[in-house]
Amino acid sequence: MTKKAIGIDIGGTGIKGALVNVKKGEIVGERIRVMTPAGGRPDDISRVVAELVKQLTGDRGTLPVGICFPAVVKHGKTMSAANISKEWIGLDAETLFEKALGRHVHIMNDADAAGVAEVKFGAAKKHKGLVFMSTLGTGIGTALFIKGELVPNAELGHLEIDGVDYETKAAYSAMEREGLSFSEWSERLQKYYSTIERLFSPDLIIVGGGISKSYEQFLPLLKLNAPIVPAIKRNNAGILGAAALAFKNRDEN
Ligand code: BGC
Repeated sequence: MTKKAIGIDIGGTGIKGALVNVKKGEIVGERIRVMTPAGGRPDDISRVVAELVKQLTGDRGTLPVGICFPAVVKHGKTMSAANISKEWIGLDAETLFEKALGRHVHIMNDADAAGVAEVKFGAAKKHKGLVFMSTLGTGIGTALFIKGELVPNAELGHLEIDGVDYETKAAYSAMEREGLSFSEWSERLQKYYSTIERLFSPDLIIVGGGISKSYEQFLPLLKLNAPIVPAIKRNNAGILGAAALAFKNRDEN
């Protein structure tokens, strides 16, 4: 029997979902993307996710569902909220989604999910050292792995550099908002990843998020000690990792 699960990736801008073959780390069939409801409020998002899951599962109502989210997630609760409604802070999001979907779900931070996909199926497959995963999108998502094991909820996108939360300067959304060229943006990325190196000395740095498909335009401009490489699963990493973790934890309830 093929091992399958549903992966849902909730972002500040869009919500993406797909059926995933969790053995191969591949999307099966259609990947659906819908806009995140304005305001990013819990009830609106959970309704949209329920519709998405319904479209994806069809008659396979028992598949595990993994949902990844742009916040610290501990024991099913969302503990922070950057780029979404503050109503998520302290909310039992797992229960909210379970009620909306009428089934068990597994919820996690989005960068953790993307990192899991890269460690299992992508750029850090079989890597034994310290891996720093990052996603450049609406915010900067980060995840740390040692010998393939995740240290959950690293929130290093919010490092304070030059007196500001540096996500506001170096996320892809900042490049778009300020109309920066790749070379201007890469100066900020240089500052960001150099700070990460100074603090953590990773053995490998992975850059994901939608913009990582254009990695040739900015990664060669960065000078770091560790290799810095694009995410192989690109913008699907969150979906793949969320599905993989949901499948792994499917018997917990
Ligand atoms: C959030 C993180 C999230 C990242 C990417 C940040 O603003 O604090 O939890 O992983 O954005 O979505």
